[in-house]
Amino acid sequence: MLAKKPPMGWNSWNTFTNKIDEKLIMETADAMVDNGLLDAGYEYLVIDDCWSEKQRDENGMLVADKEKFPHGIKYVADYVHSKGLKFGMYSCCGTLTCAGYPGSFGHEFDDAKYFAEVGVDFLKYDNCYKTKMENYLAYMRMSVALRSCGREILFSACNWGTDNVHSWARAVGAHMYRSTFDITDTFESIKELSESQKDKLVYSAPGCYNDIDMLVTGLHGEGSIGFGHGCTEANYRYHFAFWCLASSPLMIGCDVRNLSKENKALLTNPLLIRINQDEEGRPPIFFGDYEYHAFKVLSNNEYAIGFFNPLDKERKITFNFHDLGLMPNDRCVLKITDAFTGEDLGVYRDYFSAHVGSGDAKMFIATPVLL
Ligand code: GLA
Repeated sequence: MLAKKPPMGWNSWNTFTNKIDEKLIMETADAMVDNGLLDAGYEYLVIDDCWSEKQRDENGMLVADKEKFPHGIKYVADYVHSKGLKFGMYSCCGTLTCAGYPGSFGHEFDDAKYFAEVGVDFLKYDNCYKTKMENYLAYMRMSVALRSCGREILFSACNWGTDNVHSWARAVGAHMYRSTFDITDTFESIKELSESQKDKLVYSAPGCYNDIDMLVTGLHGEGSIGFGHGCTEANYRYHFAFWCLASSPLMIGCDVRNLSKENKALLTNPLLIRINQDEEGRPPIFFGDYEYHAFKVLSNNEYAIGFFNPLDKERKITFNFHDLGLMPNDRCVLKITDAFTGEDLGVYRDYFSAHVGSGDAKMFIATPVLL
């Protein structure tokens, strides 16, 4: 089964848009390995839109852009595979991709054959220039094509959360599905996207995960979705903590060849990734309307507890153990570990509080201990 756990990797779009080529992809593959991203679980390297020529060949097949990829896509895919990574590409369920390159509608079986031949392991499938065909059927067509192409290819549906995608993405065979419009490298966008999915995460589970969009951690206002602003490091912590608690796929969007020490530490944080990758893939439960907290049941008698402060002042956030159904006289206390630092914070009864800075988050792992 593919996507037993939320898929993790890197995607070219957020930083590079159409400025992609063979050199960038190969250097990114090197950097994913050298920076410990592959070891941390980021296994898919995905080339997004703008990789092909504007026209198909005389047989109706896709052709890689000859200037950007002079040795062809298979050459790049082979290199990516030689580094121990998996290789992903992009197409669209309409007649053109969002950036105006050939889309797959009417060519699904040709394109699945092409992707299988060049060694693709992951296909992101976008939603521009749609035909009159019902949206779920357009995705179903590519799902059938991929499943019959002779190669195992993870199907990443990207219809931006439209057409109630959460109600059919799993049914059509997608392994992850975009549930939001495009993220930008701003705290407003992170807040808006995370709020929009709080009541939809119950649909996400092993085999098919709700994708809140690619990570902006490390963009710092650069790239096509940076708009010159960027987020604070606190906002990036909020972003990554929420995506981990939500079991969202983790697709890095920054230039990993120039990753700061701080962002590398965040993106490879072992306890946060363990929360994201928990094999049970359970949804979190949220408490509070403004600053809020949430818990998620993990395997092995553990609970992840997230504290989120989207407000403009520091707040004290309290997790009452009553939220777990515990009562004061129960023979049960919680051992709390700070998921960001790994620090053992001791054993607590009834409640646990922490101060959380503006636009920041904290995350803990709690283990019940019987008295
Ligand atoms: C859409 C998608 C983005 C990206 C672009 C490419 O906007 O949502 O993630 O793939 O198309 O054109």
